[in-house]
Amino acid sequence: MVSMEKITSLAKRRGFIFPGSEIYGGFGGFWDYGPLGTELKNNIKREWWKNMVYDREDVVGVDTAIIMNPKVWDVSGHLKALVDPLVECKICHKRFRADKKEILEKHGEEHDGQTDWTQTKTFNLMTEVLLGTSEPKEKAYLRGEITQGVFVNFSNIVNSTRVKIPFGVAQIGKAFRNEITPGNFTFRSREFEQMELEYFIKQEEGEAEKQFNFWKAERMSWYVSLGIAKDNLRFREHQDNERAHYAKAAVDIEYQAPFGWSEFEGIHNRGDYDLKNHKLTYKDENQEFIPWVIETSGGVDRTALFFLIDSYFEDGDRVILKLNPKLAPYKAAVFPLLANKEELVGKAKDVYKILKGKFHVAWDDRGNIGKRSFAQDEIGTPYCITVDFKTLEDDTVTVRDRDSAKQERVSVDKIEEYLQNKIG
Ligand code: GAP
Repeated sequence: MVSMEKITSLAKRRGFIFPGSEIYGGFGGFWDYGPLGTELKNNIKREWWKNMVYDREDVVGVDTAIIMNPKVWDVSGHLKALVDPLVECKICHKRFRADKKEILEKHGEEHDGQTDWTQTKTFNLMTEVLLGTSEPKEKAYLRGEITQGVFVNFSNIVNSTRVKIPFGVAQIGKAFRNEITPGNFTFRSREFEQMELEYFIKQEEGEAEKQFNFWKAERMSWYVSLGIAKDNLRFREHQDNERAHYAKAAVDIEYQAPFGWSEFEGIHNRGDYDLKNHKLTYKDENQEFIPWVIETSGGVDRTALFFLIDSYFEDGDRVILKLNPKLAPYKAAVFPLLANKEELVGKAKDVYKILKGKFHVAWDDRGNIGKRSFAQDEIGTPYCITVDFKTLEDDTVTVRDRDSAKQERVSVDKIEEYLQNKIG
């Protein structure tokens, strides 16, 4: 498996992910996405939205505020419950999560195997913000999960749309947690993006079990359909003592990362915990009740990171990101065989312009063709299109497939259709 050093170095070198505020020494737990990382993340979000909203008839989408009335977080239980158990090293006063045994053991090595830990203390992860211009300023919070925006708008959504139980509300957006030990690159950040579905159902154990199992299978198959190797994925059920305060049942989808099996999506049965606390009910012509909720909650940043790791291959000196074409930042790259032959460059520009209106495509006329292709392999571009002397004779181009390195000739007037069929 690829090392995290290789992934972080590729991510920075090729413009996927940069350390946040790097010119000021960085800022722990914050990351900036470069041009290619932004494309990758946008593609993940677009595929998720298509799968969860557009392909279904029972889901609507919302985009709610990051800062909400602080009462929301009191009622939702997050001010009391969104806490991490921490211990402090009495030798160097660094703090670590008490439940991360390997990290604690590793830290001991820094002190020649000597460890002296404080008692475990809990620490609230909600990020405080101060609002207003006059003193005292009003204390509020950056949302710790994007979910509460859906619950507080439950009646607005039901009254303004034609949804009927069972139905879902999808949302993608930023969340913030004052993580005490951010780490493993973007895996544990202080600012991150979530993509969530809240699926509202009748209050019945049988229905809850059916929907929970349905969404578990659905979410797992989404990752597999976009190319994550099945062997690198597994479900892990939460034990009673590790479930979030709102969950009656919880299962994680985990990925086998270089730093061990790690969660990238949680599926939760939240029962009526949230709507009941917010004193909200569902009402239609025949009934009024508090629905139960099955939630699927994934991280955009963790998904992007795991897709980068899973698609990374080496073939001698060549690095290939075998990203699904739907997720690849560029769908194709267009090259003139030689940069100093005007007819080739002109024709290649024509091909580039045909495709550019439809797909995100790259242009490259530096160095030799081999180097250009390798540079595109490294960022996951699935097809490299070369305009050569034969193009000038028969109006066909060479298309090279990233994964097989096989080449075929395609007529210029069919190139758009060809790419569309390949990308799907
Ligand atoms: N609404 C439920 C909820 O927030 P969660 O398991 O705490 O559940 C859901 O978070 C997902 O959000 C995680 O599976 C992960 O992908 C992402 N996530 C949570 N904390 C994160 C962090 N500190 N950095 C990056 N992603 C995080």
